[in-house]
Amino acid sequence: METDGRRDSHSSGNPDQVRVRHVDLDLAIDFGRKELRGTAAIRFERRTGSPPDAPLVLDAKGLTIEEVTASTGGGKPARVEGVEEIPGDPIRGGSLRVPLAAGVDLVSVRYRTSPSAGALQWLDPSRTAGGRHPFLFTQSEAIQARTWIPLQDSPGVRITYSARIRVPEGLTAVMAADRKPSGGDPTVFEFAMDRPIPSYLIALAVGDLAFRPLGPRTGVWAEPSVVEKAAFEFADTEAMIAATERRFGPYRWGRYDLLVLPPSFPFGGMENPKLTFATPTILAGDRSLVALVAHELAHSWSGNLVTNATWRDFWLNEGFTVYIERRIVEDVYGVERAKIEAVLGLRELRDDLARLPERDQVLHIDLDGRDPDEGMTQVAYEKGALFLTELERAFGRTRFDAFLLDYFNRHAFQSITTGDFLADLKARLFATDPDAAAKIDLAAWVESPGLKAPFVEPTSDRLVLVEKAAADWSTGRTPADRLATGEWSTQEWLHFLRALPEKLPVDRLGELDTAFGLTGRENAEIAALWLLMAVRNGYRPADARLEAFLTSIGRRKFLIPIYRELIRTPDGLARARAIYARARPFYHPIAVESVDRLLAGR
Ligand code: BES
Ligand code: ZN
Repeated sequence: METDGRRDSHSSGNPDQVRVRHVDLDLAIDFGRKELRGTAAIRFERRTGSPPDAPLVLDAKGLTIEEVTASTGGGKPARVEGVEEIPGDPIRGGSLRVPLAAGVDLVSVRYRTSPSAGALQWLDPSRTAGGRHPFLFTQSEAIQARTWIPLQDSPGVRITYSARIRVPEGLTAVMAADRKPSGGDPTVFEFAMDRPIPSYLIALAVGDLAFRPLGPRTGVWAEPSVVEKAAFEFADTEAMIAATERRFGPYRWGRYDLLVLPPSFPFGGMENPKLTFATPTILAGDRSLVALVAHELAHSWSGNLVTNATWRDFWLNEGFTVYIERRIVEDVYGVERAKIEAVLGLRELRDDLARLPERDQVLHIDLDGRDPDEGMTQVAYEKGALFLTELERAFGRTRFDAFLLDYFNRHAFQSITTGDFLADLKARLFATDPDAAAKIDLAAWVESPGLKAPFVEPTSDRLVLVEKAAADWSTGRTPADRLATGEWSTQEWLHFLRALPEKLPVDRLGELDTAFGLTGRENAEIAALWLLMAVRNGYRPADARLEAFLTSIGRRKFLIPIYRELIRTPDGLARARAIYARARPFYHPIAVESVDRLLAGR
């Protein structure tokens, strides 16, 4: 079926004929109407061999196009006649076909976004930490950039961009780009990204934001009441960058800052270049959830520097990134903590494999005609990372690290396919050591469902003790208040809870709750898992906490399993509907889409 691994079935653009190279944005933010308004001025390149009358075709989803102009060599812009807005399907959205007269080298689109744009979340002041100012943020990955910018929205197309953003008085705009001085007007912010990036990495946030430096090239943005806590949590960021550079080459993006978003941010983190976006649910107060920072930072190499060319190559982004994340955790926090993360990750992979159809269990997944979000499972993340871990084992760390360093250098600022990676692997690693290569079954790893290739199960001594504690309590040998949990980390608690029997009587859950105050835990990871167990077993003392959790946190990874568990019983379904009716306006469009689908039984 696949003829060219480079063809992106999720974009309507024509980069093989006319390829976008630079976008200059001039946008005003209108919180009242929930819209962005302005222009996108697009520079492009006609590819050799393409027909002389080839148009420029852009993705545009839900945009209101007001006018399209074109100019030649810096000349006067003239309105373009014959522009076509082509309706598309619900997943890809539409496209904009702009005829190009000979010599035209700049096309400017004046447009407005829709209030329901999938990339944008508009928050009323009541949904922010400060409660006094509205907040806006974008989430462009995977294919949402087209809902706020007309462009060729494919990870195989790399562009530079510049932007001028006008905001209401008193608010600050940040973008995943360099900040430029903007001529004294405090309501205008200017940015430039001068390294070629895929469109899914274009990002903007506007709100009441404060900044705290962490190190010479690192810092954190957040609402003023959150920024100190965030600065404490992220204190190891510079050490993480240094560790990654030591192994995988220089950090090539200049600054590395983090932005802590309001709690409705639908993901844990998003690797927007120079400015990782993060959920406030990782601010645990004890730095126990900062593997997420290591993850998003690792994307500065795997993902942002070397990018998946299409969404079926998503595992190249995420599998590599989980592998590097664990290497960073090992260097900064020690080998035991890295092993713990690997054990927890494999557990989550097995949970996903148990519910996914076979076609979704392969790394090189077929996503044609589907939302790329459907490939966002632990298969891409953990099976991908496990594959790389086995390569490391077969060839030895020294040689595998050298291969990776060389891979990042040679493909820096390129978008590549699974086929490109495999060709590299064979030519540059397998060819050097046929005996090691013979241990790796590439087809089993890349094209087969499940876990068919042999691998070494990750283990952790500390988690073995946790499993023993879980068994001692489950079999009734040791009461909860006698378990030696005193020094347990967040990860050990998570492993403990997962090691308990799925079905437990409510009085047994009550015993745990009394001993360990689980319903009252502030740590969002522990709370989410405990609430899942409470729902599964009908433990009602957690009801109020459940409602508070689901109406105050919009991170999809927490919401989906809990709603999925709730709707398994008629009573739970009714509660899910009642809670969701209140929570829905607070969730991000991406989370709304997922919960809607779940509640509709799709
Ligand atoms: N790039 C992803 C987030 C993403 C993937 C957004 C696909 C939209 C489509 C990001 O790097 C990520 O993987 N985030 C994880 C956290 C991480 C520690 C595994 C998340 O948000 O859960
Ligand atoms: Zn990631």
